[in-house]
Amino acid sequence: MSSARVVVNLPNKPSYDVRIAPGQYADLADRVRELLPKASRAAIITDSNVNPLYGDAVRESFERAGFDPFIFEFPAGEASKNSQSLMGIWSALAGQKIDRDGVVVALGGGVTGDMAGFAAATFLRGIAYVQVPTTLLAMVDSSVGGKTAIDLDEGKNLVGAFKQPVYVAADTASLATLDDREWACGCGEIAKSALIDSPDFFEWLSQNAGLLASRDEKTVQEAITRCVVFKANVVAEDEEERAGVRECLNYGHTLGHAVEKLSGFGVYSHGHAVAEGMRFAARLGVALEGAPLDMVRAQDALLDALNLPAIDFSADADTVIDAMLSDKKTRGGKIRFVIPKAPGSWVVREVGPDVLREHLGAWARSKGVR
Ligand code: GLY
Repeated sequence: MSSARVVVNLPNKPSYDVRIAPGQYADLADRVRELLPKASRAAIITDSNVNPLYGDAVRESFERAGFDPFIFEFPAGEASKNSQSLMGIWSALAGQKIDRDGVVVALGGGVTGDMAGFAAATFLRGIAYVQVPTTLLAMVDSSVGGKTAIDLDEGKNLVGAFKQPVYVAADTASLATLDDREWACGCGEIAKSALIDSPDFFEWLSQNAGLLASRDEKTVQEAITRCVVFKANVVAEDEEERAGVRECLNYGHTLGHAVEKLSGFGVYSHGHAVAEGMRFAARLGVALEGAPLDMVRAQDALLDALNLPAIDFSADADTVIDAMLSDKKTRGGKIRFVIPKAPGSWVVREVGPDVLREHLGAWARSKGVR
């Protein structure tokens, strides 16, 4: 069985390992024990989908390693990523008398990682946590890099903290239970990483897209590992998205978030909406940055091969611009895009309303909206 270890090295912070391999739950807690020799309690935070699948295996691992664990389960879904669920986690941590030597274990997808991570960042002003991602999206992106958050009614991820985990265990065996929609969703973020990272990653993914879509084990392992190496490098340079580097991870997200919002959250998966945003941003690259049309064609072909076809939703330009302006990634009322010039080469640009209206108009007309 293949196995990979990637080290996330941050300036002035402890480094941590990301282990990518199938079958990690049995010895997961032994690894955590090596990192946290004094820890006595483990709070396993998970959702109602993941708990029945892996909750017992993870709890037993922590029992065997002498952690006296407990499981806190919340209803699966983005709708749970709110202050009420967070309050539930805080109360459980307090009720179970988790002290500063305790550890939070985030077992699940992006929602679980975000919310359990934020609970760990804030409870007792911060205790250690471990990410145990169970979805492709969480393995390739959200479990690494320390972004944690909850949603407000006013928008997604509006309250959160940067809090790095002490360890990330991506058990690829848990990917077997993902449905096709969830799989394609993760593939969207993999395609994003590949185009932004380098010609080599983009080329490799283009050649192996069919194998990734059909979940070939070796290809999946390599795709996750490449994404984690890419993300580790980005986060090492710009942990808190202040130096203009981490922003590259928002490629496809400017239009993608607007599509998710306007079509109704959950209609298109996050990764599929991001893929649509990548198609749009690449076309901006041709129009505004002199990117070659071949890049657009190659990216379209890659997204098609990953089962992320161009979506059939659209809206008029001003509606989309309003949705973009309400996104938290907007700065000073300006709409920002990560625009590729070629695989591995990108810029961040504020795109003014007139230019944006013209391109969004063309995008909407391509989908039959006049
Ligand atoms: N998922 C984007 C980031 O971690 O910055």
